[in-house]
Amino acid sequence: MEIIVAESYEQMSRLAADMIERQLLRKPSSVLGLATGSTPVGFYQELVRRHAQQGLDFSKVITFNLDEYLDLSPSHPQSYRYFMDHNLFNFINVDPKNIHVPYGHTEEVDEFCDWYEQEIKRVGGIDIQVLGIGADGHIAFNEPGSSLGSRTRLKTLTKQTIDDNARFFDNPEEVPRFAITMGVGTILEAKEIILLAHGAKKAEIVAQALEGPITAQVSASALQMHRHVTVIVDAEGGSLLKRADYYRWVFEEKKRLVPRLIGKVT
Ligand code: F6R
Repeated sequence: MEIIVAESYEQMSRLAADMIERQLLRKPSSVLGLATGSTPVGFYQELVRRHAQQGLDFSKVITFNLDEYLDLSPSHPQSYRYFMDHNLFNFINVDPKNIHVPYGHTEEVDEFCDWYEQEIKRVGGIDIQVLGIGADGHIAFNEPGSSLGSRTRLKTLTKQTIDDNARFFDNPEEVPRFAITMGVGTILEAKEIILLAHGAKKAEIVAQALEGPITAQVSASALQMHRHVTVIVDAEGGSLLKRADYYRWVFEEKKRLVPRLIGKVT
């Protein structure tokens, strides 16, 4: 696991975009796993900018989103499909038929979840999965107690996640209680993972997930078992990491000596 403590949210977003750009240059038909939420907004803006100004090409890219609220239609302004359209997909040249966001209005949830897993396999698996982290340690909507081997399925959200998400809804009662989400096991099968976290509110859980024990009580701690994870946090998000000085030193040395090794586990 490589941990980068960036100076700012902007630098965090740029570094993540650098990794995606390198991946797309290496493999234009990459399969990207994508997250919603506040954290990746700057990263998506950076990808959109690079597409517009530098021609970063998404025409062959295939995407899979982590999760979607149950019973919100793709056109609902708080649905994750709507978020993705308005933060990324509408502004890049991704082929709409290559976009996958769990369909929250499905009648056959179990069948849909099995199909989603099969689709990921059919296209050869996810090359890079981008993640945020919830204040309770969730990745996707794998709330505390989710099996570290879990697959795509329906999950009940915790009170904390519902409260955290209430800021996006007019009325807290409207916040969905259920979501379709990739499982921890699904996420761990991605070939490479980028975890982004920013702000003081995430500092405690980031430290627990990265430097604490691996436990189903903190789903993100399962990332410690993955062979190629890059964590990029801003200074506030990384402020409670015990080994922050070491992570900063590694990053500076790589920048100074071999910048191409940034984002490579070595
Ligand atoms: C979103 C997702 C969630 C968020 C997490 C952090 O698709 O899977 O796990 O990444 O809740 O959300 P923000 O970035 O809003 O703090």
